[in-house]
Amino acid sequence: MHVILCDSAAEVAVAAADLVTRRVRRGPAVLGLATGGTPQPTYRELIRRHREKRLSFARATAFTLDEYVGLIPTDPRSYRATILRDFAAHVDLPLERLHTPQGGAPDPAAEAQRYEELIAAAGGVDLQILGIGTNGHIGFNEPGSSLSSRTTVRALTRQTRTDNSRFFGRDPVPRLCITQGLGTISRAQEVVLLAVGRGKARAVRDMVEGPVSARCPASVLQFHPRTTVLLEQEAASQLE
Ligand code: F6R
Repeated sequence: MHVILCDSAAEVAVAAADLVTRRVRRGPAVLGLATGGTPQPTYRELIRRHREKRLSFARATAFTLDEYVGLIPTDPRSYRATILRDFAAHVDLPLERLHTPQGGAPDPAAEAQRYEELIAAAGGVDLQILGIGTNGHIGFNEPGSSLSSRTTVRALTRQTRTDNSRFFGRDPVPRLCITQGLGTISRAQEVVLLAVGRGKARAVRDMVEGPVSARCPASVLQFHPRTTVLLEQEAASQLE
């Protein structure tokens, strides 16, 4: 794990965008995209580079990490709608190569398996962008998830549903999701994990300095040969 301390969230975004830019400029790339709040400034920076510096995603393919079970793509809170709004609709990524698990699929377990196979058929993910939950989750692999799991249906913890209620207003946050597994994420050639804010400090400490344990799912990245962790100061504040 290569841990880089940045002065600000803006610096995290530029550093992450630099890594994505380098990979995309090298040739056809399979990108793994996180949703949620943390990567939004990175996506804004990539959109800026697309507009001002001709950074092209025309030869890229993208897979998002997860989706809420029961939310269809036109639901603005779905991760399909989110990644379109935050990133994909603003660059030249061909939308037929933007893949997200289908939250409205009648058989979510079969959909999870289809998604896992789709990632494998694309040759796996070249560069995976990740955020981290306050409880140490990556994707929606909550504490206790198998470290070798494949894309699967999972229940969200109360903590995660509370953390994400800001995106749902008065509506309840779905209880189930389809998520790439920890084993799936670990197969990415390169991983870039971003963390910003004091709320992530404990999870970051457990991920970087704790034992590799399902109690902190992100700790599995200690085994990954090419993981860069980009931290803003508050997120790094509990590291020794
Ligand atoms: C999102 C995802 C989650 C988030 C994590 C942090 O696709 O899989 O693991 O990365 O919940 O969310 P934010 O960035 O909103 O704090």
